[in-house]
Amino acid sequence: MKPFLPVWKQRHNCVKMTDRTEAMSPLELYESLMAQGDKVRALKTAKADKTEIDAAVQLLLKLKVDYKQVTGQDYKAGSPPSESSVVHDNGPAADGADDEDTVDPWNVSTTNAKGVDYDKLIVRFGSSKIDKELVDRIEKVAGQKPHRFLRRGIFFSHRDMHQVLDAYEKNKSFYLYTGRGPSSEAMHVGHLIPFIFTKWLQDVFDIPLVIQMTDDEKYLWKDLTLEDCHRFAVENAKDIIACGFDVNKTFIFSDLDYMGSSREFYTNVVKIQKHVTFNQVKGIFGFTDSDCIGKISFPAIQAAPSFSNSFPQIFGGRKDIPCLIPCAIDQDPYFRMTRDVAPRIGYPKPALLHSTFFPALQGAQTKMSASDPNSSIFLTDTPKQIKNKVNKHAFSGGKDTVDEHRKYGGNPDVDVSFMYLTFFLEDDEQLEKIRQDYTSGALLTGELKKLLIETLQPMIAEHQERRKQVTDEMVKQFMTPRPLNFNC
Ligand code: TYM
Repeated sequence: MKPFLPVWKQRHNCVKMTDRTEAMSPLELYESLMAQGDKVRALKTAKADKTEIDAAVQLLLKLKVDYKQVTGQDYKAGSPPSESSVVHDNGPAADGADDEDTVDPWNVSTTNAKGVDYDKLIVRFGSSKIDKELVDRIEKVAGQKPHRFLRRGIFFSHRDMHQVLDAYEKNKSFYLYTGRGPSSEAMHVGHLIPFIFTKWLQDVFDIPLVIQMTDDEKYLWKDLTLEDCHRFAVENAKDIIACGFDVNKTFIFSDLDYMGSSREFYTNVVKIQKHVTFNQVKGIFGFTDSDCIGKISFPAIQAAPSFSNSFPQIFGGRKDIPCLIPCAIDQDPYFRMTRDVAPRIGYPKPALLHSTFFPALQGAQTKMSASDPNSSIFLTDTPKQIKNKVNKHAFSGGKDTVDEHRKYGGNPDVDVSFMYLTFFLEDDEQLEKIRQDYTSGALLTGELKKLLIETLQPMIAEHQERRKQVTDEMVKQFMTPRPLNFNC
């Protein structure tokens, strides 16, 4: 997949214009304006007939007036509508805040050894920071100590979480939705992050969960057969089940299986497809004219589970049950699109909780990714493989010699072993002591790596043990459309 290109750098075709602009969203109006601007320039360059140019200019002016009316802002080429006008849904098309960081569903990269600048990303994506006030509120509403991912800012950004909590406090339940693109048999530890957190949310709020396995997506994007993608979906479901989800509250589905069997799910996919233009998905995902049409329409399939009536067996046809999506922030483009389309098809917008990325072994310039085996610790790795990978590949913030390290100390902010411990070591005090000792030079890189190895080895061995207990019968149960325990 190509790196993301803002829409104004990639548009090739002028959209067919009508003057029915009143039904357009701010983003659609903005895109129509850009296309119309291109058209006017092209007509002028081609020295077209004056009446034709005048008509195109008139339409351009009308669009500008409509844009101002809808957004309260003047149209400015290269500046998509701001957060307030797209109801909190700036796309990465609003990029420009930070040229160094790339974050989209296919690429995560930065030149900064500390990793992506997440504060800037919040501004760029138009989401909200999970601040102390929100963490405290979650603690109060859930009645539980916040998960370490919340305490440590690993889940750092959200959309509309306060609304979910407001409703929950008034005894209005919600459901969770997350997913996995099954591109290989083995998942890596980075993939566990949203599932570990989702399990915590399910436990503390006692709510249903749907997990989408996008075997269709992986077939469309990768050089894999449909059979393999479906098989990987079932294999990955075993790892997900091993995270401890409650079968009475969890429905895991393969798109290939569920979409054809559920009229309600497919109905929502089609509704979404009708209300999102090619221009919009080009702007959001960077699709080009040579991408297959399966990719272009796929975002509607990832959007559909955000609406409760896609699961009549769970929610009895109700379309108003709020949805909360925990995921890493790379998936946000799908849900910006979903939130933009939701009110236009009469559904509530899903809320989101975004996590940072679990970094590659080689450093936080990129995320751990299954497509680079050396960057990853897999859930199938043996204790020996874990030890070798950490010792050989984990980027160190330590100094070159022991003497220098003792004298000047190490840098935990760029040290991958320390970063991994922030994800997995439960004890806050122990983590803080490690940070101080490493910074002062009292703790050496080899010792830090040993601590990480001793944390990861039992954690992954226990996961493997739980996965062994997952039978085919259990997978079938989780993956069968059925009612779940749900009190709204
Ligand atoms: P996929 O399979 O790429 O990733 C699955 C989930 O893991 C998150 N993730 C990571 N989190 C932290 N650190 C990493 N290094 C890391 N790599 C991946 C992803 O953000 C995701 O939450 N298209 C999706 C599947 C999907 C989905 C969803 C995901 C369908 N519906 C709803 C989240 C929510 C995909 O290919 O995910």
